[in-house]
Amino acid sequence: LTIRAGAYADELVKTAKTIASPGRGILAMDESNATCGKRLASIGLENTEANRQAFRTLLVSVPGLGNYVSGAILFEETLYQSTVEGKKIVDVLVEQGIVPGIKTDKGLVPLAGSNDESWCQGLDGLASRSAAYYQQGARFCKWRTVVSIPNGPSALAVKEAAWGLARYAAISQDNGLVPIVEPEILLDGEHGIDETFEVAQKVWAEVFFYLAQNNVMFEGILLKPSMVTPGAECKERATPEKVAEYTLNLLHRRIPPAVPGIMFLSGGQSEVEATLNLNAMNQSPNPWHVSFSYARALQNTCLKTWGGRPENVSAAQEALLIRAKANSLAQLGKYTG
Ligand code: 13P
Repeated sequence: LTIRAGAYADELVKTAKTIASPGRGILAMDESNATCGKRLASIGLENTEANRQAFRTLLVSVPGLGNYVSGAILFEETLYQSTVEGKKIVDVLVEQGIVPGIKTDKGLVPLAGSNDESWCQGLDGLASRSAAYYQQGARFCKWRTVVSIPNGPSALAVKEAAWGLARYAAISQDNGLVPIVEPEILLDGEHGIDETFEVAQKVWAEVFFYLAQNNVMFEGILLKPSMVTPGAECKERATPEKVAEYTLNLLHRRIPPAVPGIMFLSGGQSEVEATLNLNAMNQSPNPWHVSFSYARALQNTCLKTWGGRPENVSAAQEALLIRAKANSLAQLGKYTG
C-alpha cells in the first residue's frame, strides 16, 4: 500500500494529524509585508520591521494560545525573526505546542491570456527554499492561489491554479513540509450561493485530479477552502445553516476521507460570522477534521485593541484568545455565542 512514501511520509502524516487535532485550528499570521502594512495603516502605524515584529510578538505570546491553536502560518520574515524580547519566534510557538508553518508562494501576478485573472508564482527554487524552511523549524506550508467568479473563472485560470497547487504540494512533501492546499475562491461579486457552489465543484475536481497525477500523499496534506457563500455584493444573504449545508455538500462530493483536515479561510467574513459558520458545519460528525485557518477573523479585534500601544498588549492578547476559544468551540460544534 505504498503511495509514494518518500523519506518524510510518517512525519508528514503525524504533523497533519497534530494540526488537525480536536478543538484546535490554525492562526494565519503570514501576511506579506505589503498586506501587513495595510493592517498596520488601519491603526495608524508605519509599516516598519519593528512594528511588524511588535505585533507578531504579541500574537505568538498569548498565554494559553496552544489550547486552541495547533499551527501558525508565518511569513518568511517572521520565521527568521525573534520576539521583541529576543527569543526566536519559532521557539515561542513550539513551547506553546503550536506547529510553525510558512507561506511559500511568491504571490499573485496577472495570468496572460486570461480574462484579467491571476496565477500564483513560486515554483522556481521551491525545493531548496522548502528544505531551508524545514531546517529553520517549519513543518507545514501554505500556497494561496485565487479564483475569481466575476472574471470567469476561465478554464485556463482554474487549470493553472490546480496544476500549480499540485506541483507545490509534491515538492513540499518531498522536503518534509505538510502542504496546505488553498485555491481561494474570492468572495467578491454579486453572484448567488448556487454559482459559488458550481465553481467550487469545478475547482476542487481539478485540484484533486492534479494532486493525484502528481502522486501527492493525501494523508499528508491539509486543505484551506473558502466556505460556499453568496458573493459579498449579493443581496440575498445565507444563514450559517445554509452555508454549512452547501459547503458540506461540496466537501462530501469532492474531498476524499484520506485528507485529515479542512481548515477554512475567513475571506473577509466578520469574526462572529466565521465562527457561526464553522460551528454549523460541526453539528454532525464529518469524515475530516473541519476547522479554521483564519487571519482577519482571528486578528481584527486584537489589532484594533492593541492600536500600537504597549499598555494595550494584554487586552489585545485577551481579544485574540476570545476569538481562538470561540473557534475552538465551533470546531467541536459547541459554540453558543
Ligand atoms: P483570512 O482568514 O483573512 O481570509 O486569511 C486567511 C489566509 O491566510 C488567506 O490565505
